[in-house]
Amino acid sequence: MKIDYKPFKMKHYERVYEFWQNIKVLGMSEADNKENIKRYLKKNRNSSFVALNGSEVIGTILAGHDGRRGYIHHVAIDENHRKKGIAKNLINLAIAKLKKEGMVKCHIFVFKENKNAKNFWSHTGWTERTDLDVMSYNII
Ligand SMILES: CC(C)(COP(=O)(O)OP(=O)(O)OC[C@H]1O[C@@H](n2cnc3c(N)ncnc32)[C@H](O)[C@@H]1OP(=O)(O)O)[C@@H](O)C(=O)NCCC(=O)NCCS
Repeated sequence: MKIDYKPFKMKHYERVYEFWQNIKVLGMSEADNKENIKRYLKKNRNSSFVALNGSEVIGTILAGHDGRRGYIHHVAIDENHRKKGIAKNLINLAIAKLKKEGMVKCHIFVFKENKNAKNFWSHTGWTERTDLDVMSYNII
């Protein structure tokens, strides 16, 4: 099977959104609607990627930065294609782009109950921040 890695463009959006809906642990929100993803991809050009098997989306990563730090979201791989290095490849592509843009550190948010993801991030060299909690504020 040949997997293609492509920058995530709006032409992929409908397929990606459907793919995300099947990944129960992702934590989808209004932030993932078409208008918001369009704005995100415009603000963070060619930093997010999709893994394709033909035209089928089998993996995603959203990546961007705020000028100081990189942030990664929605790393997800189709259940039938896990443990083949696809997530690692997507992360390497995103990190290379963030590095090119001057970022020296990158963060990711992981739901506390997502032990599978926590194990994955630890295994691939990411460090848990026990000195930080995330706090959020609803603007609207
Ligand atoms: C976590 C996830 C993205 C991993 O994707 P994947 O394509 O299977 O990962 P890879 O094949 O690239 O694995 C890279 C390395 O991590 C290891 N690995 C993969 N899943 C692992 C896990 N759950 N725990 C520990 N190590 C893991 C692989 O064995 C491989 O190790 P190696 O480089 O030493 O050989 C995938 O399980 C997934 O989509 N989970 C559901 C969505 C999710 O939770 N996303 C994260 C949100 S924060």
